[in-house]
Amino acid sequence: MTLLQPLQLRGLLLGNRIAVAAMSRMQANDDGSVSEDMPAYYARYAAEGAGLVITEAIATDDVAARAYWRQPCLSRDSHVEGWRRVVDAVHEAGGTVFAQLQHGGRLCEPGLNPSHLAASEGAASGSTWQTGIPNASAREATRQEIDAIVEGFAAAAARACAAGFDGIELHGARGYLLDQFLSASTNRRTDAYGGDLAGRLKLPLRVVRAVRGAVGRLPLSWNFSLYKMDDAAYQPPGGREEVQAIARELVAAGVDILHVTTRKLVRAEPWGEPLALTLAKAVGGTPVIGNGGLKTLEDAEAALDSTGCGMVSLARPWLANPDWLRRNQRGEDVLAYEPGMERRPLL
Ligand SMILES: Cc1cc2nc3c(=O)[nH]c(=O)nc-3n(C[C@H](O)[C@H](O)[C@H](O)COP(=O)(O)O)c2cc1C
Repeated sequence: MTLLQPLQLRGLLLGNRIAVAAMSRMQANDDGSVSEDMPAYYARYAAEGAGLVITEAIATDDVAARAYWRQPCLSRDSHVEGWRRVVDAVHEAGGTVFAQLQHGGRLCEPGLNPSHLAASEGAASGSTWQTGIPNASAREATRQEIDAIVEGFAAAAARACAAGFDGIELHGARGYLLDQFLSASTNRRTDAYGGDLAGRLKLPLRVVRAVRGAVGRLPLSWNFSLYKMDDAAYQPPGGREEVQAIARELVAAGVDILHVTTRKLVRAEPWGEPLALTLAKAVGGTPVIGNGGLKTLEDAEAALDSTGCGMVSLARPWLANPDWLRRNQRGEDVLAYEPGMERRPLL
């Protein structure tokens, strides 16, 4: 199987082409530091053969970025030491690990942060993911707050480097802050950070450049989706050309891996082909990781062929089965993911 062959990814030698996608477990210490079980939890995926482990979303600042209670952070220098234990444990297990950095924007749990900021004023529809209460109305970030958001990402990325991570992933997907700026439905700003696609891209590109500046040549992935936690059906006004332009701009600014996350990786978008394939065509030699709805090794192998991805990631199958790869290889049954499994103890 191609999937099980080693892969050179931006200077890293991965044992295979199967990643663990980011999964928020919300079991850090109350101050955002890494809790006792997190190093062994992440190392287990490496020991079970995952070619790449991407951490859960890590908050970049204490002002407005934390999406969930007990979400881990890289907002303070004191957070570095715990993440170093995670990185060391994954490395000792023979694995490779990226830190996923996130600003929650208007999807943050109400009352968690001193400020509740978004691209534009208003509340996400429906309820929050963690506690199930109505999403709160957010305030449009000011220009000064935008500067602070960019600095937060860069500082968190520098701390991730200090902790020894092998790469960084920016959470640009699913309706969190970077995606709120990128998407026409959530960005109704009338200043330079809104309006046409160039305006909607302004903050995401500033973040990419600042993070690239902070991490040097470390691999930098962008997690991209169309669907959002509060809007499963979003389509960009410019369709195929728009998503391709976004991908090209991100790569030109310093992203060197695209992680395309969908409900179903092989499903065609309205323009007739899977999103990952559309993006892979746009960015030429840039590696693309495809995600969404894969359940078996056979699914994943077929998706590699049909979507132009060099690698796949899975989330729910790994959550329900930390030994998902070995179970598949031995032909054993795998457990199905059930909502709420993420709240179970890490080990
Ligand atoms: C419990 C849970 C937590 C998640 N947390 C994150 C996260 O922190 N960051 C992120 O980018 N995606 C997150 N996701 C989305 C997954 O990474 C993935 O894109 C999605 O589940 C689809 O992949 P799958 O079909 O393999 O599960 C989460 C998904 C689940 C089920």
